[in-house]
Amino acid sequence: MSGNPLPRSMPYAPEVGVLRTARGSMTNYNYLVTDPSTRRAVLVDPAWQADVIEQALDDANAGLDGILLTHAHPDHIDLAKPLATKYGCPLWMSREEIAASGFRAPGLVGIDENAWWVGRMLVKPLLTPGHTPGCVCYLIGDNLFTGDVLFAEGCGICPGVDAAHQMFDSLQRLKRELRPQTRIYPGHSFGKPPGQLFADVLQENIYLQFRDRQGFAAFRLRPGQSRAKLFTFH
Ligand SMILES: [Fe+2]
Repeated sequence: MSGNPLPRSMPYAPEVGVLRTARGSMTNYNYLVTDPSTRRAVLVDPAWQADVIEQALDDANAGLDGILLTHAHPDHIDLAKPLATKYGCPLWMSREEIAASGFRAPGLVGIDENAWWVGRMLVKPLLTPGHTPGCVCYLIGDNLFTGDVLFAEGCGICPGVDAAHQMFDSLQRLKRELRPQTRIYPGHSFGKPPGQLFADVLQENIYLQFRDRQGFAAFRLRPGQSRAKLFTFH
């Protein structure tokens, strides 16, 4: 999990493979993130179509070092165990999410916010609770993998007022810490393709416009939200 850190000044720009996978009414985005200098790679939230993922690994000529899990919902962990077993690699999930969800798997590693290296890529977890108690976004270079925390068009569902307050705090944190040129890679799309610039999401996403927890929570939890619309994935 930890390596000998290479100087940050060494150039690297991770390759981000966008994998759109589906089963039934569910469509998810999985990501294959590869260090071009070593071909070491990580997968983010693999689900639904192992053949698509394995083909992407082959096409990228990438060796899988591990699987990053943003949270423990079924559509984000669907293929985590079988792929970790097949490739003999670790699964990473926040300690908070493991405790809250009860998720267990061989090779599961509970993480905090300490970064680690995969090849020359620095993987930096950011704890961003709200959708679930232990949701994590992963920052790799200028790419943020957000699971169900931040979508281009919105943010994840929050199961109550306290969770909505946590989500507000998490989104405020992203606003403080992310560079405008960061590319946002969510677990789902509701219209816009993955990889939007954070600078654009900041302007266009209504959930990033609130100034206080109460106003945010009232909007996030507003009545009359259509379940059909919530699950209309692109
Ligand atoms: Fe989720």
